[in-house]
Amino acid sequence: MTTPAPPAAQTDAALRERFLAAVDASLRPTMALRWERHGQRLLDTLRALYAAHAYGGAAVSELLAEAAAAANARPLALRAQDAARADDPAWFLGPDMIGYSAYVDRFAGTLQGVAARVDYLRALGVRYLHLLPFQRARDGESDGGFAVRDYDAIEPALGTLDDLRALTFRLREAGISLCADFVLNHTSDDHRWALAARAGDRRYADYYLAFEDRAIPDRHEATLGQVFPQTAPGNFTHVDGLGWVWTTFYPYQWDLNWANPRVFVDMALTLLRMANRGIEAFRLDSTAYLWKREGTASLNQPEAHAILQALHALCGLVAPGVLLKAEAIVPTRELPPYFGSGEATGRECHLAYHSTLMAAAWAALAEQRGDVLRHVVEQTPPLPPGCAWITYVRCHDDIGWGVLAAEAAGDAGRAPFDLGRVSRFYAGETESSYARGRAFQSDASHAHGSNGMTSALVGIESALAAGDTHALALAERRLVLLHGIALACAGVPLLYMGDELALGNDTAFGRGADSGDEGRWLHRPKMDWRLVEGAQAGAQAGVAMRANAALRELIEARRRTPALAADAPMQALALDEAALFGLRRGEDFVALFNLSGQVQRLERLPMAAPTSWRDAIEGGDPLAFPLLIEPYAMRWLVAA
Ligand code: GLC
Repeated sequence: MTTPAPPAAQTDAALRERFLAAVDASLRPTMALRWERHGQRLLDTLRALYAAHAYGGAAVSELLAEAAAAANARPLALRAQDAARADDPAWFLGPDMIGYSAYVDRFAGTLQGVAARVDYLRALGVRYLHLLPFQRARDGESDGGFAVRDYDAIEPALGTLDDLRALTFRLREAGISLCADFVLNHTSDDHRWALAARAGDRRYADYYLAFEDRAIPDRHEATLGQVFPQTAPGNFTHVDGLGWVWTTFYPYQWDLNWANPRVFVDMALTLLRMANRGIEAFRLDSTAYLWKREGTASLNQPEAHAILQALHALCGLVAPGVLLKAEAIVPTRELPPYFGSGEATGRECHLAYHSTLMAAAWAALAEQRGDVLRHVVEQTPPLPPGCAWITYVRCHDDIGWGVLAAEAAGDAGRAPFDLGRVSRFYAGETESSYARGRAFQSDASHAHGSNGMTSALVGIESALAAGDTHALALAERRLVLLHGIALACAGVPLLYMGDELALGNDTAFGRGADSGDEGRWLHRPKMDWRLVEGAQAGAQAGVAMRANAALRELIEARRRTPALAADAPMQALALDEAALFGLRRGEDFVALFNLSGQVQRLERLPMAAPTSWRDAIEGGDPLAFPLLIEPYAMRWLVAA
C-alpha cells in the first residue's frame, strides 16, 4: 500500500489555524497559548505513530476538529479549574493530598450513595477519590467492571450520567478530585465495536487484533507473559468469524489495536468526554500493554509511551487541569519512562503506581528485612517537576510479586530472598505465619501474587480469632507500620477502602451473586458503616477505632510536614541494622521502621546534622539516642 502525501491543507500551520478557527472566539487567545506548548507536540507524536497508516492524516484532522468541539463544550467550572491549575501545577503534590480508592457498590451502593459519604472522606483528609470502574460494564462477568461495554454510560445499578455530574460537583465543592479508570487497553467483547467486528464489519475488526490461524499468535506467545495463568491462560481467544483475538486479560476483554489511528481518535475523544463530565484524574489501566511487538513481551514499548504522550498533549490543549496516572505494574527500572523521557520528560503521566515499593514493603515485613525496602528506594530516581509516585499498601488487585524478581534474585550484591516463601507466608502456610491471605495464580514453582485485606495479611484476623491480645497488638502495629511507609515515602498516598478501619477479608467471597469466584474478591469487602458510626461493639470495633485513630494521626502529621510533599526528595538511610528501614525526606525529617519482631536499638542516625530530633507525631522533648524501636513499631522524627 502506498502512503498518500498529506494534502496541502494538512500542513502544521494549516492544522493550527483550523483548530483555532473552530474554537469559540472567547477561547482563542488561551488556545493559541496552549497550542504553543502542546499542539505541535501532539502533531509530531501522532505523525511518528501513524504517518505510515493510510488514515493517519485524516485521523489528525478529525481529532483536532473534535478536540475543538470538546474545548467549546467544556463546562465553565472546569475551565476555571484548568486556569487555576495552570497557575499552580503542583496543586496535587502537597503533603495534605491523600487519595482513597473504592468500588462504588462496595463503598456506598451507588454514585448517589458516594455523594452522601463525602463528609466521611473529607474528615479522613481525602482529596483524591479513585472510584473503580463505574461505566456500563459487560453483561455477566466483567472483571470488576474492567470490561467496559459503553464508556459513555454508567452501569445501571450504580446510577446515571446525571448522578455522575452531581457527584463530581459535590466532590469539587469539597475539594476532592474524582479519579476514574480509563480502561484503554481493551473493551469488553460486547462493546459495539466488538459486536460490529464479530458481524464482519472490516472497519471494526481492525479495532482489535485478530488472526486467522495460530501462526502469529504462537510466535507472540513464545515471548509473552501471562497475567492470569490459571484463570485465563494464554493471550489469545478463538472467536467464531474473527479467528484468534488478542486477549491479554480475560477472554471477554479484547485488546484494542492502538496501531490503528481510528482507535486513537475514538479513545482520545472518549477521554475528553469523560473529562468534560468532571473527572479530574484518569487511572490509565494496563498502560504497559498498549503496543505489541513480536519477539518481545509486548510491554513498555516506545509506542505505548508515545500514545500516552499524545494523550498528555491533547489534555494539555483541551483539559489541562486533568491528571493522568499510569497503572503499569512493572519493575522499578521500567517505571520512570511513564513520566516521559528524552524531550518528552515530564510530558507523559503525572502519576504512576510504585508497585515495586508496595510489594517490597510486604516482602520486607514477611522476611523481617528493612534492607529490601532500602534497595528499592535506592533504585527509585527523582522525578521530573510536576510528577509523583502513587504510594499505597493495598489496592483492589493482588500484591504482584513479579515486580520484585530482580531484588529477590539478589542482583547488585544484595542478599536474595525467596518470593515463594513470601507468598506462602501470606497464605498462612509457613510455620511462623500470622497471615490469612491466599496465593493468587501461583503454583509450587511460581509465586504470582497474594490476595487479602491488609488486616488479614498483617495478622489481625488470626489474632482476633485466637483471642490473643499480645498478637493483636503486634498485628495492629504492622498495619500502622505499612501505612507509615506509604505515607512517608515520596508520592501521593492512596488508601484502600476499609484499611482505615482494619476491615477484614470478605468472608462471603465466592458465594455472593455479584462477586466472581476469582481470588481477588477476597479483598473487596463491603464497607462496614456500623464501625464508622460506632454502632458495632466487640473486639473488631476496638481494632477499627484504634487503626482509624492511628492512621488519622499519621495523615495529620504528614499534612503539617512540608518535607513529606509528594515531590520532595527521598533518600534511604544506610543503617547497619538489617531489620530497620530508615528514610530521609529533606533536611529535617527522618522515618524509622522496624520490620522485625525484635526490639531494635539504633545508636545514632547516619548523618552529622541535625543532631537533635523529636517525635513528629507526639512532639515532646528531643529524643535521646540510642533509640529503642519496639517490634513492628515506627518513629517519624523531625529536627528539634
Ligand atoms: C488492571 C486492573 C485489574 C484488571 C486489569 C484488566 O490491572 O487493576 O483489576 O483486572 O487491569 O483490566
